[in-house]
Amino acid sequence: MKINTRLKALGDLVDDNTVCLDVGCDHALLDIYLVESKRNIKAIASDIAEGPLEHARYNIKKEKLEGQIEVRLGSGLDTFTNDIDTVIISGMGGRNMIGIFKNNMKKLKKIETLILSPNNYQEDVKRFICKNGFMIEDEVFVREKKFIYQIIKFKKGKKSYTKRQYFFGPIFLIKKGELFTEYYQRELKSREILLDFLPKRFHFKRFKVKQEIKAIKEELNITK
Ligand SMILES: C[S@@+](CC[C@H](N)C(=O)[O-])C[C@H]1O[C@@H](n2cnc3c(N)ncnc32)[C@H](O)[C@@H]1O
Repeated sequence: MKINTRLKALGDLVDDNTVCLDVGCDHALLDIYLVESKRNIKAIASDIAEGPLEHARYNIKKEKLEGQIEVRLGSGLDTFTNDIDTVIISGMGGRNMIGIFKNNMKKLKKIETLILSPNNYQEDVKRFICKNGFMIEDEVFVREKKFIYQIIKFKKGKKSYTKRQYFFGPIFLIKKGELFTEYYQRELKSREILLDFLPKRFHFKRFKVKQEIKAIKEELNITK
C-alpha cells in the first residue's frame, strides 16, 4: 500500500519488537507500513471517530493484516493498555496533543517511547513531554509537498535542556542540514511578518517574537 514520505519517516523511527499505539490513525497506512516493514510489530490503530476506523478496517483487510493490527475506537490515550510500549501521534496540533496527555497522565507515565509529529507548538510539546519523564532521542525533518514537518522521538528518561535546545531541538542543533536551514528561514519570515502586524500594546508577545527572530538569525548566521 502506498505511503507518503512523512508517514514513512514516522514509521522508520519505530523500534523492532514493539507494541505500538497509533493515536488518530485515520486510514491506518502507518500501521500497515509498520507491520510490513519492521520486525515483530503489533500495531493498535485507534481513532476518536468511527469514520476513519472504517477506512482503517478496509485497508487492513485488503492487506490481510487483521492478525497484526487491532483497531480501537476511543479518544487519545483512553485506548492505551499496559502491553503497549510505543505511542505515535501525528497530524494534529501541538496543543491538542498536550491535551491528550493531560487527560491521561497516569498512562503517559507507562509509555516507554513516544513518537510525535505536532503540526505546530513543537516547542511546547517538547517542554511538556520532557518535564513529564522523557528525553529526546531523535529528531527528524521531513518534506511533504510544500510543508516541512518535525518528528520527535522521546524515550523514558531524564535530561535537562537549555532554552535554545527546546526552541531549535537538541538533536536538530547537532544534525543541522538543508531542511533545518529552510525550516528556520520560513520561521524567520513568518515572525517578521507577524511583528509588522502585532500592535505595539502587545509588549510581551512582541518581545518574545523579537527574541526568537534574534535567535534564528544567530543560528543561521544572518547578520542584517
Ligand atoms: C489529520 S488526521 C492524521 C492521520 C495520521 N495520524 C497522519 O498523520 O496522517 C487526524 C486524525 O486524528 C483523529 N483524532 C483527532 N483527535 C483525536 C483524539 N483526541 N483521539 C484520537 N484520535 C483523534 C481524527 O479523527 C483524524 O482521523
